[in-house]
Amino acid sequence: MDTHALIDYALQRYSPREIAMALGVDARTIRRWHARESDPPPYVNDAIRQRLLPLQGLEKDAPADFTFIDLFAGIGGLRTAFEKQGGKCVFTSEWDAYARKTYAANFHDGPDHVFAGDITAVHEKDVPDHDVLLAGFPCQPFSIAGVSKKNALGRPHGFADKTQGTLFFDVARIIAEKRPKAFLLENVKNLVSHDKGRTFSTIVDVLKNELGYHVKTKVINGKHFVPQHRERIIIVGFRDSEEFDWQGLSLPAFDTGPKLASILHKQDGTEPAEWHCLEGKKGKVTANYTLSDKLWEYLQGYAAKHRDKGNGFGFGLVTGKDTTRTLSARYYKDGSEILVSQGPKRNPRRLTPRECARLMGFDDNFRIPVSDTRAYKQFGNSVVVPVIAEVARVMAPFIKEENAAPRKRPKKAA
Ligand SMILES: C[S@@+](CC[C@H](N)C(=O)[O-])C[C@H]1O[C@@H](n2cnc3c(N)ncnc32)[C@H](O)[C@@H]1O
Repeated sequence: MDTHALIDYALQRYSPREIAMALGVDARTIRRWHARESDPPPYVNDAIRQRLLPLQGLEKDAPADFTFIDLFAGIGGLRTAFEKQGGKCVFTSEWDAYARKTYAANFHDGPDHVFAGDITAVHEKDVPDHDVLLAGFPCQPFSIAGVSKKNALGRPHGFADKTQGTLFFDVARIIAEKRPKAFLLENVKNLVSHDKGRTFSTIVDVLKNELGYHVKTKVINGKHFVPQHRERIIIVGFRDSEEFDWQGLSLPAFDTGPKLASILHKQDGTEPAEWHCLEGKKGKVTANYTLSDKLWEYLQGYAAKHRDKGNGFGFGLVTGKDTTRTLSARYYKDGSEILVSQGPKRNPRRLTPRECARLMGFDDNFRIPVSDTRAYKQFGNSVVVPVIAEVARVMAPFIKEENAAPRKRPKKAA
């Protein structure tokens, strides 16, 4: 790839300012190169390859064990887990500009990968063929119509009647058209009890009876792998195989699981100095993560008021020996669900975005190119990567099966 093309490619993932910083020039120079107003010097080609873009994705791709698509992709937590099993992402859909920015900074796809926005605007026929469909569809308030079973049965695409207008409908219509070997859907645990269980049973009914998949569901707590209580419902389905069994999962016991200290900054100078949340030679967590007196007093007063009323609301103060409550997308507001104690003489602090990344099981190579507020939202919306990686490990033999039957549509009811 020539250097101009490489700059165009880098600009799909980074701002001119970020590229300029990495190359030690100013942003105007990047814009001039991009506009072909001047030619970059020869070193720029290597510098972009080495500093900005891992070679993977730029060069011919290594053969993949299976292909998948990443719907409601967020920052790619599901993708990270399935790539570890040798999967290759061929299509992504995410409409939030900031989530897209984080995603693009971490996954470097070649020209054969499509990065779509709003999935409701994508025709299912335009989605490429794939072996596995992944979707962490948003926990929007479901209003799945209570069409009676009798009514829906016997009609092709009855799911359209029951789920149209919800994002689950978009997942279902893509499964109906593309017939992947398998899917994995992820959602909050409350999906199971929503509307007295009717929403969940409609979803499972559609997947099983209308789309014809062998469906298994399980609530899994992230605490098996990370020091965070985070229960999520995982729904997996297989087009041909009935053999997938949750018994195959290896979930470490909670009491032997990691504690918060394992994800906190070491503050001993061993972590990357360029992380903006750290300062000084020792890499201390910068002071702006410590709660102001005003906020800390407010949170304590709020908790006391609710304690008096017999409610359990309030902040979650933790030390390195603890595990945390669930990190939410609202963490940026006051951080009250997870406050790290800094001893009796100092107010507690919030987790830094890097610590949030670790709390969700992302490794330290994961780039965070957005503001703290955006990053908190993104990690709070994401998945515990090692949970999904473990499910992916157990799914893999059924996905990679070489002799899996060709794509076929379910028999239409007579
Ligand atoms: C619960 S988050 C999924 C997070 C993801 N599993 C991860 O690991 O980061 C849901 C995502 O769906 C995106 N989203 C919501 N509606 C969408 C739509 N119509 N088209 C594409 N993306 C959408 C949101 O912006 C959000 O990032």
